[in-house]
Amino acid sequence: MKKLWGGRFTGSAAEWVDEFGASIGFDQELADQDIHGSIAHATMLAKCGIITEDEKQKIIEGLKKLQHQASKGELEYSAKLEDIHLNIEHHLTELIGPLGGKLHTARSRNDQVATDMHLYLKEQVAQIIELIADFQKTLLEQAEQNIETIMPGYTHLQRAQPISFAHHLMAYFWMLERDKQRYADSLKRINLSPLGAGALAGTTFPIDRHFTAELLGFEGIYENSLDAVSDRDFILEFLSGSSILMMHLSRLCEEIILWSSQEFQFVELSDAFTTGSSIMPQKKNPDMAELIRGKTGRVYGSLIGLLTVLKGLPLAYNKDMQEDKEGMFDAVKTVTGSLKIFAGMVSTMKVKQEKMESSVKNDFSNATELADYLAAKGVPFREAHEIVGKLVLECIQKGCYLADLPLEEYKEMNSLFEDDIYDALNPYNAVERRNSAGGTGFSQVKNQIDKGKSLFV
Ligand code: ARG
Repeated sequence: MKKLWGGRFTGSAAEWVDEFGASIGFDQELADQDIHGSIAHATMLAKCGIITEDEKQKIIEGLKKLQHQASKGELEYSAKLEDIHLNIEHHLTELIGPLGGKLHTARSRNDQVATDMHLYLKEQVAQIIELIADFQKTLLEQAEQNIETIMPGYTHLQRAQPISFAHHLMAYFWMLERDKQRYADSLKRINLSPLGAGALAGTTFPIDRHFTAELLGFEGIYENSLDAVSDRDFILEFLSGSSILMMHLSRLCEEIILWSSQEFQFVELSDAFTTGSSIMPQKKNPDMAELIRGKTGRVYGSLIGLLTVLKGLPLAYNKDMQEDKEGMFDAVKTVTGSLKIFAGMVSTMKVKQEKMESSVKNDFSNATELADYLAAKGVPFREAHEIVGKLVLECIQKGCYLADLPLEEYKEMNSLFEDDIYDALNPYNAVERRNSAGGTGFSQVKNQIDKGKSLFV
């Protein structure tokens, strides 16, 4: 097969070179964007008088045929033709003859590939933003049903203070809100057109870059042709935003895995999102949560991979940059898949409210209430802390909890204790009374949920 750049060569490529250098195995994912970009380019060439109207018609007709074939998976690709750009150009020339070769006037694969990736990420990021919103709505629904479900809140994975389960879920809602904002902000930079930057220096042809940008739905153009073809920041931003999102999902995975263990039994995942064991008949494994936690690593890997690819590159295009694609495609697939699984997994998750509540009654997570009780009566908090610490120790030695100690024992420790301490020790009251802004008090949690919902109206 004749190389499209073969003019200055006398010898042929060494064995393995074609295959090793080719990106068609993965960049065929960009076929639609590539053709879309070419149609805009041909339209602009005609408008600027660089090709005739008739030539434009023929080129676009050919490209549309290829677009149709590509969408049905009927376009044949060859590694000998290196990448998606040369494969499409080859097919176009087969279809419409040497005129196909005019399409590449005033353009290079360097601005072409950058354009394709901007178009691709623009679509994908918009879809990811929608998937995040879907998952947020699921969290809102579960939260609404669990405002008064109380559970132990943890620090250091040690029981700390009782909280509302809705409050816990809403923490993830706000993380996802930031993720969504990060993606939305990155769209400003994805939305710029590199097309017309040429190989690196622009072109002598009287092109109109603003026109192609407009045809492709971009909001503006790169101001510098070297930057236009060298920039992969928009992919790095996508990968870093995705890494943070995956980290959030992974933390929730970890909690769901813990919560569904025999030791916690706070939730039960639906059969639809769990698997069994081939040997142990009793098992119900939270595979999907484990897998999402595991897949987080590959998204981080793609981010570090691309940062490393780019760090030593002189301007402008270098072949190293072909390594930007697989990680990006993989991250899109991982993030999209994880979000879809998560929405289903959380909406079908059974919350074992009684188990959560009973566990919070059998612990010391109400100890802060007692310290606050004394502090509210004027005892310096540090002193109150010390007194309650001693009471906890006494309980541990006796094998009971704070609510089991009789009032006399409290009074012995400090005469300010009255029999309303038992109300204060009730974990439900402990949650209800935490009404500082953003706290776990039920009315605060309701507020949060209302604010969350208002983002979707
Ligand atoms: N397949 C190449 C890539 O993905 C396209 C750009 C090639 N440009 C070049 N001058 N060799 O980066």
